[in-house]
Amino acid sequence: MLAPSILTADFGQLADQIRAAEEGGADYIHLDVMDGHFVPPITFGPIVVETIRRITKLPLDIHLMIEEPERQFEAFIDAGGDIINFHIEAAPHVDRLLRTIHAKNKRAGICINPGTPLTAIEEVLDVADQIMVMLINPGWGGQKMLPSALNKVRALKAILDARGLNPDIEVDGGVKANNAAQCVEAGATVLVCGSSVYNPDSTPQSNLRTLRAAIEKASL
Ligand code: DX5
Ligand code: ZN
Repeated sequence: MLAPSILTADFGQLADQIRAAEEGGADYIHLDVMDGHFVPPITFGPIVVETIRRITKLPLDIHLMIEEPERQFEAFIDAGGDIINFHIEAAPHVDRLLRTIHAKNKRAGICINPGTPLTAIEEVLDVADQIMVMLINPGWGGQKMLPSALNKVRALKAILDARGLNPDIEVDGGVKANNAAQCVEAGATVLVCGSSVYNPDSTPQSNLRTLRAAIEKASL
């Protein structure tokens, strides 16, 4: 699945930019919420999510890069979020938070930074619907995928297979048409695509079609 991130989209034309992603065949819209603490930048909060909810029927994949996600996640559900992803590094009561999100009938995801070992999430792999492996240090779009990042995706996939678990594996950061197939081969089922969809070189529609062709080649 392809989950375009609007982080590098033109916020002055947000409705058009989201419709362009729909036309290009996006599966989710990925929304990067940053609080200026967990990561240095500040992006947007529930009001913008609510606005986007009115523009599209696609599932909204909320990536909370915030401290104390347990204090804020509900506002993002109320705003229309469908999948609530929070960082293991920001949440001491991970199991409880995952179950609380489920109790609200939403999908729950855990995100893991490049510097955090997989052992940090092993105890809750059976509770999460989605594991988001960061392929960059979060905070900014347009970064290059870290060289060994896909090894962690492969290792995660092996652990999940050994335990008979099947959550989505989402990868975020530096995904481009020239490495999308590798992401899928490593085990990713959801690819976040920011600057490879929203960039000045081409339209989101055409970029998404190129990315789709790349992942379809990998699944053959
Ligand atoms: C960064 C965000 C990403 C970002 C990805 O912290 O989590 O979702 O938008 O952008 P690209 O695809 O350009 O790396
Ligand atoms: Zn993200």
